[in-house]
Amino acid sequence: MATVGILGGTGPAESGVAVRLASCGHDVVIGSRDAQRAQDVAAQLTPRGGSFAGGGNDVAAGADLVIVATPWDSAVATVTALRERLVDKTVISMVNALAKEGRELAPLYPSRGSMAAQIAFALPQSTIVGAFHHLPAALMEDLDSELDADVLIFSDDDFARTRVAELVDQMPGLRAVIAGSMSLASTIESFTAVCASVNIRYRTHSYLKLAGLTH
Ligand SMILES: NC(=O)c1ccc[n+]([C@@H]2O[C@H](COP(=O)([O-])OP(=O)(O)OC[C@H]3O[C@@H](n4cnc5c(N)ncnc54)[C@H](OP(=O)(O)O)[C@@H]3O)[C@@H](O)[C@H]2O)c1
Repeated sequence: MATVGILGGTGPAESGVAVRLASCGHDVVIGSRDAQRAQDVAAQLTPRGGSFAGGGNDVAAGADLVIVATPWDSAVATVTALRERLVDKTVISMVNALAKEGRELAPLYPSRGSMAAQIAFALPQSTIVGAFHHLPAALMEDLDSELDADVLIFSDDDFARTRVAELVDQMPGLRAVIAGSMSLASTIESFTAVCASVNIRYRTHSYLKLAGLTH
């Protein structure tokens, strides 16, 4: 079992990932700019079952695997401040760069094409994997929901993306689908705008499931 740290782990999307990771036996470290807030969130999640701890983002960055889950416009600054702590680690980006435009979300394109690429540039000695981009926070947090979603995973490192896929496959309600390399990052991240806009339009929490995939 791994220890998984979540940078910016106090938000709704992160709680869902945390709850599902803890439910299959992983120790989750909620990270925050405010250690007390992280401890409070960890204490709130503990009755859901599993092992949660809370601390500063630096504490979360000490975990075996680290997930970046801050808003897109603070992700690079957050990981840059933790660069030394993240050397030789697998860092999972679930960050989407999106802008709200009326009742839709529009994808933004960072200068390197994707948030995963921005993070990879900021962390040259870490291995970056993208995952968890399209999951609706509300269903993720509810372990009783009938979530049956695919998680598209991408990385240039075959070992790291396989490791993350194995982790995802352990999480209830999720199926790992290795999409491919970092060249897909922009497409996968920007497709989140489609998922979120559909959910706003139809006032629902739909999720991605690829038909015809039998692995
Ligand atoms: N919402 C979803 O359903 C969903 C699904 C998949 C992926 N995502 C992605 O996951 C990320 C987080 O989404 P979210 O909806 O949970 O966002 P959020 O609640 O706005 O942010 C998550 C956490 O990031 C920290 N944070 C906020 N501003 C920050 C700043 N300026 N610098 C450093 N940390 C900051 C906050 O923690 P502290 O204040 O405790 O530090 C906050 O609780 C986004 O990139 C989003 O695109 C979201």
